Amino acid sequence: MRHDHVISAKQLTRGDIESVLDRASDIAADPGTYAGRHQGTLLGLLFFEPSTRTKMSFSAAIKRLGGDVVDMGPVDASSVKKGESLADTVRVIEGYADALVLRHPSEGSAKMAAEYVDVPLINAGDGAGQHPTQTLLDLYTIRENAGLDGLRIGIMGDLKYGRTVHSLAHALTNFETTQHFVSPETLALPRNVRYDLHEEGASVKEHTDLEHILPDLDVLYVTRIQRERFPDESEYRAVAGQYQIDAETLEAAADDLVVMHPLPRVDEIASDVDETEHARYFEQAHNGVPVRMALLDHLLEGDR
Ligand code: NCD
Repeated sequence: MRHDHVISAKQLTRGDIESVLDRASDIAADPGTYAGRHQGTLLGLLFFEPSTRTKMSFSAAIKRLGGDVVDMGPVDASSVKKGESLADTVRVIEGYADALVLRHPSEGSAKMAAEYVDVPLINAGDGAGQHPTQTLLDLYTIRENAGLDGLRIGIMGDLKYGRTVHSLAHALTNFETTQHFVSPETLALPRNVRYDLHEEGASVKEHTDLEHILPDLDVLYVTRIQRERFPDESEYRAVAGQYQIDAETLEAAADDLVVMHPLPRVDEIASDVDETEHARYFEQAHNGVPVRMALLDHLLEGDR
């Protein structure tokens, strides 16, 4: 990989993506080969926002590689509570770990923090900005289930604040895909993301309803309305509960439609979808471990 820090999906070339996904496939096929490969390596976890999957799958990944974590723990129990800056926090923790994983509510925080450290820093979500490692596991899941080139993907829900959407949309421009974005007008793609996609020559279509494009899709990627990012609760309530799917909605879809979601879901996907052939979101979450093992193995390669 050209870059030590993983800040944005924009920095990932098709070659970078394919080499991580190929390595993840090798790991999934034969996890034993990678066990112990990074004995003694420590991964610093700095999570300033809630996380289940990202944090736990990074922990599982480094432990399966033979390493361990040093975890800042909850913000309220750290020196951040005493007013320590993010720049100081990362400069201190880089002395305790071989790589850092940062999740923070401010967009641009990972880029800023990376300027202060020499060890690889991985952005695990910066506000409504980017979430590049989620994208890698999303691409892995898409490649396994539908293939990446020639893909027709629907991306539905909170396109404005959803960082997984911003990263995924950009990464997909490395492949021959048509991206159909489905959202209420108030939650449409931010102008800068739309501009970047346009600059990359992406094939992009925007819609306010799913019905007429659903039968044409290979993958439907559903997202949660990012309640915590709304400046005003009444704005959230105005859009909450829209764009839900259930098993009946999917009767109009192709038999092999793949339904994905970065999780957690609230009410966007009814539980009756879980029992259908379409559901891949739990498999997607599980893919976080081999994909993050592959990424860490790439980034830490020089340390072996
Ligand atoms: C996502 C996130 O944090 O952006 N979660 C995750 O990492 N799987 C999606 C979300 O919170 O809606």
